[in-house]
Amino acid sequence: MSAAQNIYTVAVAGLGKRGVHHADALAKNPRFKLVGLCDIDPARLDAAKQKFGVGYGNADAARMLADTHPDVFVFCTLPHVRLPLIRAGVGAGVKLIAYEKPVAVSMNEALEMSKLLRDAGVKSVVSHQHRYGDHYQKVKDIIASGALGRIHTVYGHATGWMMHMMTHMIEYASWYNDYAPAEWVVGQAAGREKFADVHSSPDYIAALVQFKNGVRGLIECGAGAPDVPEVESWWRKCRVGAQGTAGFAEVLTGGGWRAVTKDGAMSGPGGMDYDHDMPPYIQDIAAWLDDPDKVHPCNGETALRGFEIMMAACRSAVARGKISLPLGPGEPELEALKRALP
Ligand SMILES: NC(=O)c1ccc[n+]([C@@H]2O[C@H](COP(=O)([O-])OP(=O)(O)OC[C@H]3O[C@@H](n4cnc5c(N)ncnc54)[C@H](O)[C@@H]3O)[C@@H](O)[C@H]2O)c1
Repeated sequence: MSAAQNIYTVAVAGLGKRGVHHADALAKNPRFKLVGLCDIDPARLDAAKQKFGVGYGNADAARMLADTHPDVFVFCTLPHVRLPLIRAGVGAGVKLIAYEKPVAVSMNEALEMSKLLRDAGVKSVVSHQHRYGDHYQKVKDIIASGALGRIHTVYGHATGWMMHMMTHMIEYASWYNDYAPAEWVVGQAAGREKFADVHSSPDYIAALVQFKNGVRGLIECGAGAPDVPEVESWWRKCRVGAQGTAGFAEVLTGGGWRAVTKDGAMSGPGGMDYDHDMPPYIQDIAAWLDDPDKVHPCNGETALRGFEIMMAACRSAVARGKISLPLGPGEPELEALKRALP
């Protein structure tokens, strides 16, 4: 059987909103076969087993992996469940682990996860799948065409709070800057109410990012980030774009794209749509497993660099200064920030 015809077996843990999105796209893709499902909630597990016609189910992800030996492990749990599932996937000898953003709850955890994956040679993919939206791609195309001249600024803001939205904003702004590495970050944060949420975060956070190619990044998330009045849906009030010497181009997550270049003003439609974005995101997992050179656009190494920028912004708000990258281990950022904020 040629590599192009391989069918990859997959087990999925965490069958809430995003786990079901993943299982659905995997079930519809002929390159994958669902062999195991896992959730600590028996009702969710049963519903998913029925929906996707999968015989094997278990509440324990490590047990499921040992029993089903999948090529790919997908997990879509809330942010505080990451490291044990990475450990379970690596221990079971899977080829690739795909999991949900944000990468981790602290830099220490992210570094440990990344070491486990690297040492075992396991590929990883993190679900920043909005980039598959046609309106996101259109902005990338305009930037790449040179129509904006020399890019000097990239930006992203969302009214949704940090652990939900910030790595999405950093990921797409970094993509618009060709993933140039970041050199330093200055951050500021405010408000403690959202620390109680399952996506524990300051109410508001801002980051100024200096990229090594000279481009400046501006990222804001949460209560106090600019409104995007053109977009009605609250979670989609996000604006990500780039400014250059000859104009700007930007995407609104729930409201299309727009640009002004030396050729004039232009705009087009588009809205974030899981049904549109998940199939190519899943297909690119098969492409990477087939061919190591076809690295997934949402690969874990890139996601780690974005996560590091977010953690640097937290550290900066605590330390009141410029934080140079890369980051080593340190005090867990959320706890430190919670203590530091009035
Ligand atoms: N990429 C995106 O566009 C996007 C959109 C929404 C949410 N998310 C992210 O997806 C993740 C999950 O969010 P959600 O909305 O699907 O949450 P959810 O609460 O709907 O689902 C999480 C599921 O995980 C299960 N679970 C918890 N611990 C488990 C364990 N140890 N083993 C197996 N199952 C376990 C829970 O019972 C639940 O069914 C979060 O990190 C969130 O930030 C991403």
